[in-house]
Amino acid sequence: MNHDKRKILVTSALPYANGPIHIGHLVEYLQTDIWVRFQKMRGHDCYYVCADDAHGTPIMLKAEEAGVTPEELIERVGVEHQRDFSGFGIEFDNYYSTHSAENREISELIYGRLKDGGHIDHKIITQAYDPVKNLFLPDRFIRGTCPHCAAPDQYGDSCENCSRTYSPNDLVDPVSALSGVTPEQRESEHLFFKLANFEDMLKTWLADNDLQAGVVNKLNEWFDAGLHDWDISRDAPYFGFEIPGEPGKYFYVWLDAPIGYLASFKNLCNKTGLDFDEYCSPDSSAELYHFIGKDIMYFHTLFWPAMLHGAQFRLPTNVFVHGFLTVNGQKMSKSRGTFVTAETYLQHLNPEYLRYYFAAKIAPAIEDIDLNFDDFQQRVNSDLVGKLVNIASRCAGFLTRRFDGVLSEVYDDPELIAKLKAAAPAIAGHYEARDFARAMREIMMLADAANQYIDRRKPWVLAKTDGSDDEVQQVCSTGIALFRILMIYLKPVLPEMASAVERFLNCAPLMWRDVEQDINGREINPFKPLMRRVEAEKLEAMINDSKSAEQSQPAPSTPDDEAIASHITIEDFAKIDLRIAKIIAAKSVEGADKLLQLNVEVGDERRTVFAGLKAAYDPSQLEGKHVVVVANLKPRKMRFGVSEGMVLAAGPGGEDIFLLSPDAGAASGMEVK
Ligand code: 2FM
Ligand code: ZN
Repeated sequence: MNHDKRKILVTSALPYANGPIHIGHLVEYLQTDIWVRFQKMRGHDCYYVCADDAHGTPIMLKAEEAGVTPEELIERVGVEHQRDFSGFGIEFDNYYSTHSAENREISELIYGRLKDGGHIDHKIITQAYDPVKNLFLPDRFIRGTCPHCAAPDQYGDSCENCSRTYSPNDLVDPVSALSGVTPEQRESEHLFFKLANFEDMLKTWLADNDLQAGVVNKLNEWFDAGLHDWDISRDAPYFGFEIPGEPGKYFYVWLDAPIGYLASFKNLCNKTGLDFDEYCSPDSSAELYHFIGKDIMYFHTLFWPAMLHGAQFRLPTNVFVHGFLTVNGQKMSKSRGTFVTAETYLQHLNPEYLRYYFAAKIAPAIEDIDLNFDDFQQRVNSDLVGKLVNIASRCAGFLTRRFDGVLSEVYDDPELIAKLKAAAPAIAGHYEARDFARAMREIMMLADAANQYIDRRKPWVLAKTDGSDDEVQQVCSTGIALFRILMIYLKPVLPEMASAVERFLNCAPLMWRDVEQDINGREINPFKPLMRRVEAEKLEAMINDSKSAEQSQPAPSTPDDEAIASHITIEDFAKIDLRIAKIIAAKSVEGADKLLQLNVEVGDERRTVFAGLKAAYDPSQLEGKHVVVVANLKPRKMRFGVSEGMVLAAGPGGEDIFLLSPDAGAASGMEVK
């Protein structure tokens, strides 16, 4: 390993700006933050940049749904993300947004260079189009029956039932998830990045760098399958950057997302005077690392290095891939209360519990890690409270009360101190290799040794008996010196506790090399408790708060309540937009026994609604009548057309169905509630 001062640029994947940070995300941000903090403690010039991934159709639609502009949405979410990251002690050198001037500039630059290099193609493609929403549908917004296992209501790209992937064209009975209508197939010209031009270069990159075995295997599989052109454009309406020289066409979100790494760094350089080229030019001697989840490997190990190379930027030194988080052995779930957002966690528990627990589980392999709540409680309490903090709390009081906080000039057990110091290179090696689990195991073994020493020397007994004062001071000072070394080793994982310890020890921010220093003769401050135990009630409260609204209804308590357990709440009811509508035209539906097709006027809007009224009403009786309609029901595709609402009626059914009286009199479109 190179012990000179290194220049290191590090990124974590950019979270989408349309949802909250949750504990699944945190596996990556905490892993990266720990690694970066370690590098900084070693004295390297290490910069950790990130940003919100702000573009794309889902964000555009989410903003529309919320009645705000995409800019307003990403601004709000950006603030929430940064609040959550900082709550967990995740310390970016810069946190930015892909919707930024720097990102537009670098995206245009990279695209321009790729185009000039002959790496961009134009091709006409046929794509699903929603004629009601007037947009091309991303695969995720098409639903239908799985072509393989016939499971209904599956996504356009993969089936949650049989896990197979397919093209949306293969779906049976596809509908737009936005409007419920059958998508049309429309042609459009798209821009493609010719990935295959970079096959040799990618193979060299793979050979020259120390990628994880799982990544190497995947890359080889992809090479064997052949590299395909990548569609990098999307048609308007789209929230993103318009492609220069291609009016109405936008960069696909995945093109400008990784460029957001460079843009965030560029923004940092502009603010601080750092030299962008020193880190990003092809001849840079700096290191560049991307931490990512296994689901986005293709983008980061094929497209991204190829784009960088094609646009004359440096290549990543490595891409560090991790697995997913399971909770109590299963996928995170809202109904089980295991889909825990960062915000909910922080309302109940100390972030350093999770930092330590994840550190104790994170190894360099691409394996999923499990957060088991019982194990979490047991491990944090036993390791951090029972072992680590206990060392200091058993020694500090005597020093403060009997020696004015002054540590002895000589230690009682210099060999043990030397043993803890000697572990530094091995532990540093584990951090460097992202084998935090191994680092934590070794640190805890040393904590065991420190505790055994205190158990053996029993300062509380020495203090009561005739043992000399010097002995008590030396034993307690040894304990504090051991604790300090352990705290240096744990500082990347427990930054908050480390700063409390720096205040307690009256010292400057601890660096890795400070392990070598001795603190004999120094004066320390009175000890304050460093960490409370994880309490079961708090864990439970966090899980309860994480249950989705429909799951956390109070349980029925009386027989009466039980009989009506299917009640909806007033909030549920408030979601239904009931309006009075006027029937403009009504007619029978050919081939349907019970249905009438109604043309209704809701306010200024005309809608088509299919209603099961045929047995009760002759169509001619209905024209001019007022009815109550559910105006915000998601349009439903029926055999005969799309129904854009629902008519409410009273009665047992069949011929006995009653609509409002003809003179309901209300202006059409009036709200009923
Ligand atoms: O998968 C995701 O959540 C993406 N928003 C990650 C983007 S990482 C990078 F390429 F920007
Ligand atoms: Zn299936």
